[in-house]
Amino acid sequence: MSRLHSVSAIRREGSASMLGQQLKQHPPTTPPLNAAGPYRHGNEYLIELRQVVKTFQTAVGPFTALKNIDLKVNGGEFVAVIGKSGSGKTTLVNMISGIDRPTSGEVLVGDTAVHTLSENQMAKWRGHNLGIVFQFFQLLPTLSLAENVMLPMDFRNVYSTRQRKDRAMRLLELVGMAEQANRLPSAISGGQQQRIAIARALANDPPIVLADEPTGNLDSSTSESVFQLFEGLVASGKTILVVTHDSDLAKRVRRAVIVSDGQVIDEYLARTFPALTEQQLVWITRELEPQRHEPGAVIIHEGAPPDNLYLVTRGRAEVMLKGPEGQDIVVAHMDSGQYFGEIAMMRGGSRTASVRAALATGIEVAAIDRETFERMIAESEPTREAIERVVDERLARHESIEHAGAPHPESRSPKSEIGNPNS
Ligand SMILES: Nc1ncnc2c1ncn2[C@@H]1O[C@H](COP(=O)(O)OP(=O)(O)O)[C@@H](O)[C@H]1O
Ligand SMILES: [Mg+2]
Repeated sequence: MSRLHSVSAIRREGSASMLGQQLKQHPPTTPPLNAAGPYRHGNEYLIELRQVVKTFQTAVGPFTALKNIDLKVNGGEFVAVIGKSGSGKTTLVNMISGIDRPTSGEVLVGDTAVHTLSENQMAKWRGHNLGIVFQFFQLLPTLSLAENVMLPMDFRNVYSTRQRKDRAMRLLELVGMAEQANRLPSAISGGQQQRIAIARALANDPPIVLADEPTGNLDSSTSESVFQLFEGLVASGKTILVVTHDSDLAKRVRRAVIVSDGQVIDEYLARTFPALTEQQLVWITRELEPQRHEPGAVIIHEGAPPDNLYLVTRGRAEVMLKGPEGQDIVVAHMDSGQYFGEIAMMRGGSRTASVRAALATGIEVAAIDRETFERMIAESEPTREAIERVVDERLARHESIEHAGAPHPESRSPKSEIGNPNS
């Protein structure tokens, strides 16, 4: 019962894909901000790690590989997990797959509290919900490629023998290996073996695919084709988490989670304030408060005292000034990787403009409270200077707009000017 519940909950997240559709290439669609409903354990996201700690007992004493990890992944996301060797990436992914268990904390996937499952329940749950791809493909050497792909279907036992064969062939087609179906793993290259491993991971049409350095042993052109395969799967509605060392590949996903010494660094924070050190990023990440604002909701009111700085993580913010007749004029907008609310935080006084969630998209932001902000700019002089420059530019822009009278909305101040801290 609860299994069915959890599968259907996960299906809600993306169109349950027909294999044929996986072949179609189209740009990944951004799921609407409110696609994820609250799940059984109160989790809003398809994958949620809450205060996950993992301590290994070693010969020289306990070693904490994950230090209080909070992570949220929406259905339909393509997430890269990056970080130095030994930082905890594999341990993190193993928490989600249930291959390993947290010492404390919670791992929620859809309606399932993964950390509470028995070994038997875990194996069953995994077989239905996850496709797992490893760095070393781990194909069974004595089985043909088609048989390797059929193996997970044999374990799950919902497809008839005939259906299994058909399905395996379609999956082999999907990864471009149908013609080699009857060969043994030893007869094909590493890149081809990884394609087979991906086909095997998809055997039971899982909504989530986890891959731990799937291209770690492949040359760059083979890596590229494996990555394209993942992009196609995301386009068809799957949720994919891929650990990768390859920074070029990591740049192509919508979101990267950075693991540093057993802790997670917010990627938007790292991108928005590149001068912060890794240590600074870790502690500021902990203080970030994710917020979601519905389309049109006002986040900053002109004249109010400043409380937060906001990083845009998804969607768009619109900055509004009052026109000569008191009407609202949208003078700039800000997208993912940009920030707003810094002027009054830096200069004191009250808010100089109102900011709302864009009517078309709504917005997700990470709020940095005043105390954290003060400490951040006190600790990082280059970050303080960068923000100061943005304040200067934006104030100058506001002034020119006010002097010019009512501008055409947006036309005088495209995002690349007022809205862009990097310009
Ligand atoms: N079973 C284990 N017992 C003891 N220490 C472990 C175990 N697994 C991982 N570790 C340690 O945890 C840290 C993180 O490992 P891992 O998650 O494999 O890192 P990554 O995948 O980022 O290279 C490393 O220091 C590693 O030595
Ligand atoms: Mg690893």
